[in-house]
Amino acid sequence: MAPLNIAIIGSGLSGLSLALALHQQNIPCTIYESHLAPLNIGGAVMLSPNALKILDALGVYERVRAKGYNFETLEYKNGTGELLEVYEFGGKEKYGYEALRIYRTVLIDELLAMLKEKNIAIVFGKKFTKVVAETEKDVTWDFQDGSSQTADILVGADGIHSTVRRYLYPDLVPAFTGMAGITAAVPTAQLKLPPGYHIPVTIMTPSGGFKRMGDGFDRAGWERYMADKDALVAFLQEDASGFPAMVQNAVSHIPHAKINVWPFYVVPKLERWASEKRRVVILGDGAHAIPPSAGQGINQAFEDGYMFALLLGQADKVEMQDALSFWQEYRQERIAKVMWVNRQIDLRRMPKEAQTSGEVIEEIELSWLYLPNFKDDVESWVRGKLEKGN
Ligand SMILES: Cc1cc2nc3c(=O)[nH]c(=O)nc-3n(C[C@H](O)[C@H](O)[C@H](O)COP(=O)(O)OP(=O)(O)OC[C@H]3O[C@@H](n4cnc5c(N)ncnc54)[C@H](O)[C@@H]3O)c2cc1C
Ligand SMILES: *[C@@H]1O[C@H](CO)[C@@H](O)[C@H](O)[C@H]1NC(C)=O
Repeated sequence: MAPLNIAIIGSGLSGLSLALALHQQNIPCTIYESHLAPLNIGGAVMLSPNALKILDALGVYERVRAKGYNFETLEYKNGTGELLEVYEFGGKEKYGYEALRIYRTVLIDELLAMLKEKNIAIVFGKKFTKVVAETEKDVTWDFQDGSSQTADILVGADGIHSTVRRYLYPDLVPAFTGMAGITAAVPTAQLKLPPGYHIPVTIMTPSGGFKRMGDGFDRAGWERYMADKDALVAFLQEDASGFPAMVQNAVSHIPHAKINVWPFYVVPKLERWASEKRRVVILGDGAHAIPPSAGQGINQAFEDGYMFALLLGQADKVEMQDALSFWQEYRQERIAKVMWVNRQIDLRRMPKEAQTSGEVIEEIELSWLYLPNFKDDVESWVRGKLEKGN
């Protein structure tokens, strides 16, 4: 199969990193984003060694490492400061990289700068509406402004409420889990931490920060909820008295601009991430929304795009159909294991979850997650295919 030209819908972290990965494979691509500028949904993300290895291979890591907070472990403590659990999020010795917590906008800006340096096209104000034709060779779709476009492959990197996904799953609506994260960023100094205090830390009290949300929130409902910043500040301050001083300090002053609401939706495990003719593909949150417990949402999205690009880079040696099947299987197997880690963390964190569900708390071993070898895995798969073929 000849080299391709790829259209990417969405300039979130999935779309931007995919574009860089394709460029590295000498595959031309264009990004189309509905907003007039990259969407700033705020907040920070935590990157683990599996994603950092990819960002390193793409030349991003060295540019962002000093712009975030480098750490290795996440501590869980109770209200009086007793250490309950230590969760590894990275490790220079063990996994090659410390974890990196970084503002989403910082990461996005850096990726945009790199796209510019490499002359990768990104078109803002272009909202994808629907696929109008797919053949064995290419795919044509419409934008909201009435224009249409054709490419060899169309990739939906358009997030949890993906419109591209509707082409594959017209009736799928992501389910709201009934849970949301209300988050805020404040300067570390405001916490007045004791000297040497380890962060990041999760402080849990028996009732700790869990509250029933109203059912039946639709997306418009969430928009309204997010707009009422005073109510959100009040929500964060409400239960603070049950927490140690540093938490009370943290919520004593919360700038409106630094508040984020993150409603958790789930997308069920999908049968296919590509259309039958393999000209339309989905990845990132659109293909698998991962609950936040293990902090793997964006990390897994980086894996999707990087693997996808590595496989397309082999497109002259293998059948596209086989490559995409391998990709999806490989990716879904890892995501299933991430879901298991999520569940294990929930059993430890959520009030009384483990006691009532009868599930067993098991040791969480993470080297499979943090020490992947995508390149070797793709190369050995291709070798296997070629040996079988001859
Ligand atoms: C507050 C918050 C905090 C989070 N924290 C973490 C964290 O710490 N760690 C972690 O791993 N994950 C975290 N997540 C999850 C993580 O943000 C997602 O997994 C990640 O953003 C998914 O990236 P994406 O590129 O697939 O989708 P998105 O980031 O949603 O990007 C989709 C892009 O597509 C564009 N788009 C949508 N529809 C169209 C269309 N029709 N036409 C053109 N463009 C379109 C959108 O405007 C957007 O720019 C967090 C999420 C939130 C909301
Ligand atoms: C924290 O754990 C310690 C040791 O188990 C216990 O003595 C203490 O009461 C706990 N504190 C809270 C607030 O639960």
